[in-house]
Amino acid sequence: MAILITGGAGYIGSHTCVELLNAGYEIVVLDNFINSKPEVIKRITEISGGTFKFYYNDLLDKSRLEEIFLENNIEAVIHFAGLKAVGESVYIPLQYYHTNILSTLVLCETMKKYNVKKLVFSSSATVYGVPERCPISENSHLGALNPYGRTKLMIEEILKDLHVSDTDWSISILRYFNPIGAHESGLIGEDPHGVPNNLMPYISQVAIGKLKELNVFGNEYPTTDGTGVRDYIHVVDLALGHLSALEKVTNSTGIDVYNLGTGKGYSVLELISAFETVSGKKIPYKIVDPRPGDVAVCYSDPEKAKESLGWISKKGINEMCEDTWRWQSKNPNGYEKSFEVESPHLLPVRVF
Ligand code: WQD
Repeated sequence: MAILITGGAGYIGSHTCVELLNAGYEIVVLDNFINSKPEVIKRITEISGGTFKFYYNDLLDKSRLEEIFLENNIEAVIHFAGLKAVGESVYIPLQYYHTNILSTLVLCETMKKYNVKKLVFSSSATVYGVPERCPISENSHLGALNPYGRTKLMIEEILKDLHVSDTDWSISILRYFNPIGAHESGLIGEDPHGVPNNLMPYISQVAIGKLKELNVFGNEYPTTDGTGVRDYIHVVDLALGHLSALEKVTNSTGIDVYNLGTGKGYSVLELISAFETVSGKKIPYKIVDPRPGDVAVCYSDPEKAKESLGWISKKGINEMCEDTWRWQSKNPNGYEKSFEVESPHLLPVRVF
């Protein structure tokens, strides 16, 4: 029985594939490389020593997706695939709704057709919008502020309706806070397209000299040092949260939502300081105006995942910075190397 990982070449998907292989799971990986590079697939194998089938596939291609279900004995699906940039989603909302929602509908329809009803879905803390209070629990007020967050919220509602229609479905919805860090090997990590939108990859690119200085978006928030506070979680802890959720959906039915965070908040200046300590590099920065849409403080109450999934984050902020620095130092230009992917129509399934 295999686990299908959609978007398995992405930042969180690749780290989850490594942990699944390490745990002895048989996996089948699907990715269209819109947010990743083929090189990642080779590195997953290099780290884990495991082999798996890879399909160069777009989830919107229903006939190709059906082939995957026909060719493999899929037991459950972990669904990462989708567009994920908050800022970008404001400018191309139709592409976000089309890609994120339609691909999820195609996936669920195909899963239903082949009687595969165990699903772990990648959601986001952006569904909370401006939190009324912190720590944020799963029953906090919901209200996404951008098209990306709204696609996640809509998909959550679709999955809840799906379960109402057929209670044989077993679904875990995981709301991520701020994933950062990298696998300890330094072989896989976060590789944003172009200039990073998110804080940690921006800091690490300043540290290697690729970017000149960091713009700190505001220092007049009601926080200890005036800069924004977030719940940074190590991507490996996040990946292990998916294995806990997979066990849950495999051994029960029902649908539930879980925050995956540490329950601790760090400010921008605190993260800069931690990164300078572990890297030995000075991170020059200047305070600029707040970024529109930013909230002052956002961090999780992770108690429910601990109680129901038996999962808790273990890695601290220094390890997140150390692992980021090792990845960035080893890969100053990210996954620049990447073998040619034959034409999608000719690409056979490849076993890595
Ligand atoms: C963190 C803090 C910024 C960049 C985003 C997505 C969210 C989720 C996680 C997908 C804030 C400050 C940032 C910079 C800065 N991704 N900052 N200078 O916005 O909390 O969440 O990533 O689910 O959807 O919205 O993360 O890393 O962009 O910002 O000062 O150049 O760093 O103001 O306080 P965010 P972020």
